[in-house]
Amino acid sequence: MSAVHPMWLPDDVFRPLGRRAVRVDADASGDPVLATVRDEVAAAVTRFGGTLAGPDDRADLVLTVEPADGPDTHTVARSAGTTTVRATGARALLHGLHDVVRLGERAFADDLAERHVAPVNELRMLDHWDNVDVHPVMGQVERGYAGGSIFYADGRVRDDLSRVAQYARLLGSVGINAVGLNNVNVHRTEARLLTDGLPDVARLAALFRPHGIRVFLSVSFAAPITVGGLPTSDPLDPDVQAWWAQRAADVYAVVPDFGGFVVKADSEGQPGPFAYGRDHADGANLLARALRPFGGTVFWRAFVYDHRQDWRDRSTDRARAAFDHFSPLDGRFDDNVVLQVKYGPMDFQAREPVSPVIAAMPRTRLAVELQVTQEYTGQQRHAVWLGPQWSQILRFPLWGEGGRTVADVAAGLGDRPGADPGTDPGTAPGAGPGAGAPRRAGLVAVSNVGDDAFWTGHPLAQANLYTFARLAWDPEADPLALLDEWVTLTFPSADDEVRAALHAILDDSWRTYEDYTAPLGVGFMVRPGHHYGPDVDGYEYTPWGTYHFADRDGIGVDRTRATGTGFTGQYPAPWRDVYEDLATCPDDLLLFFHHVPWSHVLHSGVSVAQHVYDTHADGAARTEANAARWARVAGRVPDDLHGRVTERLAEQVRSAHEWSDQLRSYVHRHSGIPDARGRTIH
Ligand code: GCU
Repeated sequence: MSAVHPMWLPDDVFRPLGRRAVRVDADASGDPVLATVRDEVAAAVTRFGGTLAGPDDRADLVLTVEPADGPDTHTVARSAGTTTVRATGARALLHGLHDVVRLGERAFADDLAERHVAPVNELRMLDHWDNVDVHPVMGQVERGYAGGSIFYADGRVRDDLSRVAQYARLLGSVGINAVGLNNVNVHRTEARLLTDGLPDVARLAALFRPHGIRVFLSVSFAAPITVGGLPTSDPLDPDVQAWWAQRAADVYAVVPDFGGFVVKADSEGQPGPFAYGRDHADGANLLARALRPFGGTVFWRAFVYDHRQDWRDRSTDRARAAFDHFSPLDGRFDDNVVLQVKYGPMDFQAREPVSPVIAAMPRTRLAVELQVTQEYTGQQRHAVWLGPQWSQILRFPLWGEGGRTVADVAAGLGDRPGADPGTDPGTAPGAGPGAGAPRRAGLVAVSNVGDDAFWTGHPLAQANLYTFARLAWDPEADPLALLDEWVTLTFPSADDEVRAALHAILDDSWRTYEDYTAPLGVGFMVRPGHHYGPDVDGYEYTPWGTYHFADRDGIGVDRTRATGTGFTGQYPAPWRDVYEDLATCPDDLLLFFHHVPWSHVLHSGVSVAQHVYDTHADGAARTEANAARWARVAGRVPDDLHGRVTERLAEQVRSAHEWSDQLRSYVHRHSGIPDARGRTIH
């Protein structure tokens, strides 16, 4: 096997710092994060010929801690030939060190502008859908496209966790501060992580701790029965409460900085409080109260729908489910519960409207969940950089232009319409257990790494992991600037043509993917089960939802209040009206909200049918241009990396044409409308 790729931390990025005199003005003894800072600096100066300056020596770079209450913050300032990083604590110093690494030589320029840096989100989390046992259908990593788990092999936690140590270092360098260690679908073996597995959880936590990262476990709501041998897991049963309290005490005895639990309940077969006639607030608060004495948090997922319901009945709509379940519970969650909401109402599609739940729960801490692993966006065989998608979601103004955004809600910034008037920004109002609680939460994403030598299968998918972390730090950051930052760090010796090729292949790749897959926000059309490749009707006649309703007359799901499922009514103004009305509904969400004839003319001026013909042919053609562009930089990036990307781009070209052919032919056969540009349709 080839050596493990260093992602965005190749040795070379430490050169500007490593060839200078650096002083770490902080006593690292007893603080594992400060020890990381000291060790990084020591390794860099040893490698590149610099020195570790003593207390009285002149230094080019000084890293120092000046303790202060409040969130992690650091400043970088240049004066009299010295760059000084002042941090409010150990984690902040680690962030400051990597800020200097990212600045490179610019960190030592005399005209460096002073920087004050603090994360916008308190919580920046990656969830791993890793199974301890290999699942017969989902494999070792559910929706994983990069080999096996870095945590588990052979039905247990690995003996050799060196990849985890490298991963923790990478994540710490970009400010990730929480990691979920196991799949949200908790099977029998994973449930035992909470009991017999605790020594192994402690081993994993010990590898993340020096990088400022706390670990979380996904737990099964039925664990009191399946693991504890109790007759019930009813959240109001005192024995069940005592059982969870004891589990929490046991975890904190071996992992004192344990983060808490992640829970998927009453969804897709996972057990939950409904079995006892209780609701999600009862369920979440049960676990929150067990964790509270130790400072832990429950991440309760809002991805809840009844997969046994027959969604082909047009009066129902899976998109409505999360809002219908959760919005009535606003104000009932304890303040150490975070409701984890997928960004869209369906399931991580390339294009969805933002979830109306995000606007509907002013008295609840909310984290927004994104999918870095590319389940529905090409499975790390297609180069699809999701930075622009995430940025658009995070900047979406939930109550109209100029108002609070998705990112504001996640970060707990400012008042949210609907909250009781007169409350302090950042503080939950109202009575009940949530009163007075901070509403800060943040962003969560499903990770895309595995034990693959390039970590992510497609080497360019590393850009998604990097971009997520940096957007979690600052959701307002310009994604294209982050893409260039990733290129610079990952390929520090690349020439301009390599840099330009990487940028060109990725910058518009989300749009390209959307162009050759499901059109105009309709979603899915993937092969059932594994979700790779086109199958236009694949899900249409299954009980998992209703997706496009295409026939010879038209396509799309009528989610209007006037004639459809009423989903538009889950949005506040102005969106409830913008989406309701064909005249104002944006083209790229048209088929999510409306059923229209194939001949319906879009705002762009072409019919729905012609739009499919054009975007699919053009999108597939762009993948060919990308493959050609990459071929031209052979020999200028490492051969193994070039080879892997080449092979993936070839598969993307093949798959994009398959999508294009299937979609164009489907639309042509159903609509009978010819392609105005005269292309052959098979
Ligand atoms: C998707 C995905 C599942 C996953 C689920 C979830 O439906 O296909 O594998 O379990 O999301 O987020 O819980």
